[in-house]
Amino acid sequence: MKESIHDIPSLEVAKKRTRNPIIIRHETLEIPYRLREYAKGKRYFVRTYGCQANVVDSETISGILDEIGFVSSQDVENSDVIILNTCAVRENAEDKVFGEVGSLKRIRDLNKKAVIAVCGCMVQEPHIVEALRKKYPQVNLLFGTHNIAHLPSLLDEAIFEEKRVIDITSCEGEVIEDLPLKRQEEFKAFVNIMYGCDKFCTYCIVPYTRGKQRSRTKDAILKEVQDLLNRGYQEVTLLGQNVNAYGKDLKDGESFASLLEDVAKLGVPRIRFTTSHPWDFNDDMIHVIAKYKNIMPFIHLPLQSGSNEILKRMGRRYTIESYLELVDKLRKEIPDLALSTDIIVGFPNESDEDFEATLSAVRKCHYDSAFTFIYSPRVGTPAAKMEDPISRETKGKRFNRLVEALEESISAKAKEYVGKVYDVLVDGVSKKDESMLSGYTEQNKLVNFKGDISYVGKIVPVKIIESHTYSLIGEMVDEKRD
Ligand code: 5AD
Ligand code: SF4
Repeated sequence: MKESIHDIPSLEVAKKRTRNPIIIRHETLEIPYRLREYAKGKRYFVRTYGCQANVVDSETISGILDEIGFVSSQDVENSDVIILNTCAVRENAEDKVFGEVGSLKRIRDLNKKAVIAVCGCMVQEPHIVEALRKKYPQVNLLFGTHNIAHLPSLLDEAIFEEKRVIDITSCEGEVIEDLPLKRQEEFKAFVNIMYGCDKFCTYCIVPYTRGKQRSRTKDAILKEVQDLLNRGYQEVTLLGQNVNAYGKDLKDGESFASLLEDVAKLGVPRIRFTTSHPWDFNDDMIHVIAKYKNIMPFIHLPLQSGSNEILKRMGRRYTIESYLELVDKLRKEIPDLALSTDIIVGFPNESDEDFEATLSAVRKCHYDSAFTFIYSPRVGTPAAKMEDPISRETKGKRFNRLVEALEESISAKAKEYVGKVYDVLVDGVSKKDESMLSGYTEQNKLVNFKGDISYVGKIVPVKIIESHTYSLIGEMVDEKRD
């Protein structure tokens, strides 16, 4: 198949950071007439892997495809445009995508005109693009995290010129406003407050796949949140790889604390934010979180490791002492706070002592939830070049011990909920039992309880009667929480 290459990824370019001002571009989509005609009655399918940033990107992709005239479908077999929005953060996420791309060959054999596209973080990696080009002829469109707005012309080219089209930019990136967005949910939404990351933790591929840190203006964010509020949304999660750094790249002195306060003043019933870096979590932020009842008492605060030596080699810029001090301060100032974290085991050359230090930190922090990962080397990152004599078996054993320690802490925290009443935002019918509703407390704890389906999308008081490690059982009550 002929190829049309607009841009191809380069880690060298992706690594560069300049002081160039951020460019904000207001996008007006140009949709070729023949593409609009072609799209009539045709279906699209989008599969999203990875984090919330990808969820919003998929919502944008779906918004653009709707605007062109394609119709959304859950059925990959009968779709004419199939898009896999991928995650590069660990190898197992990438393996899943290769498995799925492999299985799409069947669809290519049935439908020669189908567009089979791979986008997102994986294709920002040059070796992945090479593998897709060489071994997966069924894929005829590759576009990067910075290239979503080009989707109409890329589809037009792939469909009408019957080429494999590649458009993956690695340079710093812009902030693009005004793209259409098709929200997946009706009462909970993610709102990007910034893109990219400049932290360059040594294990992490994100600064390469998502580029330089770019904050959106406060006005644009407030406008989006106000619009959600007008449409009846109950919960907004402000999104960024490192929300504490919001505004540091803007010239107007904006900060996350002041953004959070202004969002709270709009009156959204529930505000969440993720991810916070322990390094620059300042007092202003803590005061704002404590001051507003509609800012949820839940903080995701990645620890990554409890060993100072490993934290240093990870490039995390904090020590375990300063992390624990921050946790202490947060717990003192924010009543009812729930804490969640990310931890990596098996970072190159992690010793037994380093790992024990992580376990000890876990016991001190009393986490309410946690994500645990075995270190996965990412091509092009500094950690991938570090020597790593620790066996897979040792890493596996450490991982299991870590999960055990966390489950102990999570179960103990879950027990504290029993007997108390919490406000729960009802998500829908429980996945495991159709007679139950399920939703989340302000602390982000999953609760299942009996109730009428009409409560979906509403915030209701629920008394907790039983706790499991990862969920609670409750019953609806009349009284409100005090
Ligand atoms: N290996 C394992 N886990 C990783 N994470 C990021 N990069 C890697 C990697 N190379 C984890 C971190 C981060 C979370 C989103 O994914 O814990 O906080
Ligand atoms: Fe990756 Fe570190 Fe940036 Fe988080 S802060 S996205 S772990 S580089």
